[in-house]
Amino acid sequence: MRAALFLSLALLARAASPGEKDPGSPTSSPNDAAANGNGNGAGNAQGAGVGGASTAAVTATGPAGANATAAADAPCKFCTVPEGYTAESIPAPLHIEDQFSPRWRKAHKKAAAYLQGWSVDDKVGLVTGAGWMIGQCVGNILPNPSKNFSGLCLEDSPLGVRFADYVSAFPAAINVAATFDKDLMYERGKAMGDEFRGKGVHVALGPMTNMGRVAAGGRNWEGFGADPYLSGWGTYQTVLGLQDAQVQATVKHYIGNEQEHARTTSSSNIDDRTMREIYSHPFLRAVQADVASVMCSYNLVNGSWGCQNEKTLNGILKTDFGFAGYVMSDWDATHSGVHAVNSGLDMDMPGDIGFSGGAKRYWGANLVEAVKNGSVPADRLDDMAQRVLASWFLVGQDKDYPETNFDAWHVGGPNNSHVDVQEDHYK
Ligand SMILES: *[C@@H]1O[C@H](CO)[C@@H](O)[C@H](O)[C@H]1NC(C)=O
Ligand SMILES: *[C@@H]1O[C@H](CO)[C@@H](O)[C@H](O)[C@H]1NC(C)=O
Ligand SMILES: *[C@@H]1O[C@H](CO)[C@@H](O)[C@H](O)[C@H]1NC(C)=O
Ligand SMILES: *[C@@H]1O[C@H](CO)[C@@H](O)[C@H](O)[C@H]1NC(C)=O
Ligand SMILES: *[C@@H]1O[C@H](CO)[C@@H](O)[C@H](O)[C@H]1NC(C)=O
Repeated sequence: MRAALFLSLALLARAASPGEKDPGSPTSSPNDAAANGNGNGAGNAQGAGVGGASTAAVTATGPAGANATAAADAPCKFCTVPEGYTAESIPAPLHIEDQFSPRWRKAHKKAAAYLQGWSVDDKVGLVTGAGWMIGQCVGNILPNPSKNFSGLCLEDSPLGVRFADYVSAFPAAINVAATFDKDLMYERGKAMGDEFRGKGVHVALGPMTNMGRVAAGGRNWEGFGADPYLSGWGTYQTVLGLQDAQVQATVKHYIGNEQEHARTTSSSNIDDRTMREIYSHPFLRAVQADVASVMCSYNLVNGSWGCQNEKTLNGILKTDFGFAGYVMSDWDATHSGVHAVNSGLDMDMPGDIGFSGGAKRYWGANLVEAVKNGSVPADRLDDMAQRVLASWFLVGQDKDYPETNFDAWHVGGPNNSHVDVQEDHYK
């Protein structure tokens, strides 16, 4: 039932049920499976992995290589990691504001000043979601009245505001890409952004820019197709449009989330050149457009979870691309506390384990403890909090931003003010 409500994030293969095991592989980083206890998260351990064709840069099967499923209860034929595919260990880049663009540097400066005097609990509150279905949006960072912080409303989708009335359903990105019209790409982003803003959404959960490597992938239409250059432009223009409307854009799903089937257990094994030329290129373009947020994906990459992969998060995204915003997890794609944080994850969404309504968490109080006992360096938590607040300042949400005026979970309830944000966008 929960999954039924959660369509755009959850079609066929979602739902980690407690008790299922991490399919982590011998090539995963050492801490992958066990960090912070509860290393669960494996969902449907059946079915096709990513790719399959032998020339594929993304392959999910391998001959006699490491066997990602050996430890799993259910048989899994498609999440093996071929020999030679590794997960590198790369530390979180800290204190790198000098490398950011002037606009980002300014936002980080404001954020650093604003964060003076925030306690560890305050900062953890800024990076841990409230919990599934707690708050009016699909993801919520709670307000902190003592700091005059309004909280954050995170809402789907890549083609308009989800779970709200008096909003528009915009054309899917696959159709937008087919126009080859950069101005239209921008205009659509801006128009969507105006609607998100009008509803009081701080963070729009789009654009999506995976490559559709598996043609039958159920959500390929959300993205701009399989050409990295064209997708890069679609992504770039959409991010500019959304953020010109003062809404934080979230580019997703980082990375190698190329199909829905077995999306939480398959490993996308990608060599470096293919990663740079194809899969990461549109994400680079998002960073070049100053995207506020990047959502890491459900799948594993080279046998290491997308939301605790040091090479993809600390390495490619934050070090090589110089990404200055924050990485948020896809919903329930976080698999640990300490390990995920040290690998580059900055925000846990929706903030609990297994959609438990806030009952069980990797972060929250555990992260407070982890900072106090030194497992997570204090300046890493500062970095996370600063990235989140800098994004809020970047698009100017610190003043005169509309309050959230809809309720994703109770469209007919008292907290939906039915604000009409539709306009004649074609004019
Ligand atoms: C991988 O695991 C499966 C399921 O446990 C097992 O049947 C298979 O023999 C293993 N393959 C290798 C190469 O170890
Ligand atoms: C995946 O493994 C390949 C082959 O060893 C390597 O070139 C690449 O850097 C790895 N990518 C990641 C994200 O670990
Ligand atoms: C610190 O606390 C975290 C969260 O409870 C825990 O996972 C970790 O093992 C602890 N580390 C040490 C060194 O005690
Ligand atoms: C508190 O925040 C609001 C916007 O959220 C802002 O307009 C106001 O000036 C702030 N008040 C103080 C005392 O900083
Ligand atoms: C409406 O919002 C109030 C205040 O945030 C909250 O206490 C109440 O539970 C909400 N009502 C519903 C139906 O969600």
